[in-house]
Amino acid sequence: MPLLATATGNAFAHVAYLVWCPDSGEAAAIDPYQLDLVLETARANGLTITRIVNTHEHWDHAGRNAQLREATGAEVLAPRAAAGVIETVDHMLAEGDEIVVGTSCRLRVIEMPGHTMTHVGLLGEGADRGEDEPFLLCGDTLFGAGVGNVGHGGHGPTLFATVDRLRRTLDPRTRLYPGHDYLARNLGFTLRHEPDNRAARALLETIGPAPRFTTMAEEEEINLFFRLDQPAVRAAFGEADREARFLAIRRARDLW
Ligand SMILES: [Fe+2]
Repeated sequence: MPLLATATGNAFAHVAYLVWCPDSGEAAAIDPYQLDLVLETARANGLTITRIVNTHEHWDHAGRNAQLREATGAEVLAPRAAAGVIETVDHMLAEGDEIVVGTSCRLRVIEMPGHTMTHVGLLGEGADRGEDEPFLLCGDTLFGAGVGNVGHGGHGPTLFATVDRLRRTLDPRTRLYPGHDYLARNLGFTLRHEPDNRAARALLETIGPAPRFTTMAEEEEINLFFRLDQPAVRAAFGEADREARFLAIRRARDLW
C-alpha cells in the first residue's frame, strides 16, 4: 500500500503519515499534528482521510484528533491502553487487530510499550519501495539510530524488552517510519560513543533535508541501542548486562 510522509521541519521534527488504498483513495492519517500539512497532502494526492490513528497518548501524536475528525469526518482509532487518556476515540486498538482502509490497505497492530505504556505500532507491506517490503509505523518507540525516551510515562526495562522483541521478530527488511525525524542528531550520538562506526558516518554524510527512513537491518549497524554487544559500546557503557547497558545509553542520550 502506498505511504506518504509529511515532515514538518519544525523544532520537534514531527513526521505524520498517510497510508492509503489506491483502489478507493481512502487514507489513514497516522499521528497527525500539523493539520494544514496533512490536509494539503491528502488534497494534493486526491485522498479522503477516513481514519485517524494514534500510536500513543502524547499530545503531539493524539492531541489533534477532534480537530481533524471535525474537518474530515474520519473515525479515530487509538490504543486500548490509553482509554480515558486520549480524547475523541471511536475504536480501541490492541495486539493483533487489523485496521482496514478502503479495500487494499491493511495495517496490523502490535503493542510495543516502553516510551509510554500504551504505545502501539502499525505493521504494513508495500509503502513506496516494492509490494512486499514490510514497514512499521513506529511512533516514538524507534527512531532512526535511536529509541524513544522514557521520561514522560515510560519505563526503561519495558522499552528494552520491546526493542529486543522487535529485533528478534521483525523482518530485517522492515522499514521504519517514526514520529520524529531525529536521524541526523542520533547519528551524532552514535559517533560520539562509537567514532569508528563507518556505517553511521557514511549515512550522516548522505542526509539531506527530506527524512531518510532506515530499515531494521540498517539499525543494526548504526543504532547504539541495538549494538549492546559491540566492544566499543561495552567499553563506553561498562555495565555487566545488556539491559543495564541499554538503560545507561538511554540516560546518556537524555543528557546529550
Ligand atoms: Fe511520544
